[in-house]
Amino acid sequence: MSVAVFPEPLDLASFAEDLRSGLLTQGQRVLPSKYLYDEVGSTLFEVICVLPEYGLTRADTRLLLRHAPSWVSRLPADTCVAELGSGSSKKTRLILEAMARRQETEFFPIDISHAALTQCARELGDIPNLTVSGVHMEYLQGLSEVKARRRQRGPLLVLFLGSTIGNFDRESGERFLRSVREHLSPGDLMLLSTDLVKSEAELLLAYDDAAGVTAAFNKNVLARINRELDANFSLRHFDHEARWNPQARRVEMHLRARSDMTIQIRRAQLDLTMSCGETIKTEDSYKFERTELPLLAQRSGFSCQEQWVDEQWAFAQSLLFAQ
Ligand code: AVI
Repeated sequence: MSVAVFPEPLDLASFAEDLRSGLLTQGQRVLPSKYLYDEVGSTLFEVICVLPEYGLTRADTRLLLRHAPSWVSRLPADTCVAELGSGSSKKTRLILEAMARRQETEFFPIDISHAALTQCARELGDIPNLTVSGVHMEYLQGLSEVKARRRQRGPLLVLFLGSTIGNFDRESGERFLRSVREHLSPGDLMLLSTDLVKSEAELLLAYDDAAGVTAAFNKNVLARINRELDANFSLRHFDHEARWNPQARRVEMHLRARSDMTIQIRRAQLDLTMSCGETIKTEDSYKFERTELPLLAQRSGFSCQEQWVDEQWAFAQSLLFAQ
């Protein structure tokens, strides 16, 4: 077993530029959701995954427990694994243990959070016959890196779990899948997890839990801007809000200003004036119908070979083959 992490620090200049373009707008102010995941945010997200209201992670795990042993056993022995977002190692472990039992397996978690990669490498480090090499990059750049680094020459299995695809808008999600496909060869595979449309009540609770963990996760992005870009957001003057948008079939996370305020973000040379009640949208979480997934796969250059749906929480896993 070996564990290696190749760091590539995120660029503060593009963070500042993303703030200027997202916050200085006449329309809805937005922050790209990737900025939710600094070390604190990634840790809070791990807590969200075990909240009783947030059924996604448990559904993903149940589907792997129930179905992965069978489909993994049918993969060629020299299959190499990459994961987009290093996710919960508990889930990935179910696949990796089954593969490494058969022969030496290479695993490349790809994540923009250094903390998440380090934790993933630590948690999977005890699996015999497994080499974990963290790739600290954005997903597509990371896939190119994996292609250059991998030694096993069998198919590449790309895991995209947790319904992270839901954090792209529909058009970018499809474009993203197509780009992933362009990084793959025919016969490579992708396991795609997607949260499905369910009742508004269930969805709102999942994104606004009673213990306030999701609220802390959301507000942490302001604390991160304070820390990294020398800003003076007062977190106490913002409320966390989850909204269901039925036309777009997405849950939105917002931060609502509790009073009129002016915020200085010094390292972005930005003075931001907000009125009481105004919001900054920090995340979209799109939900899917199970029947749309094979069509989405087809349009992106994959064929959907199998699909499983959890019985307790409407959630699907689709096994896609690169055509
Ligand atoms: C990572 N992603 C799939 C989560 C989601 O459900 O959209 C992020 C999250 N946001 C709030 N809670 C969880």
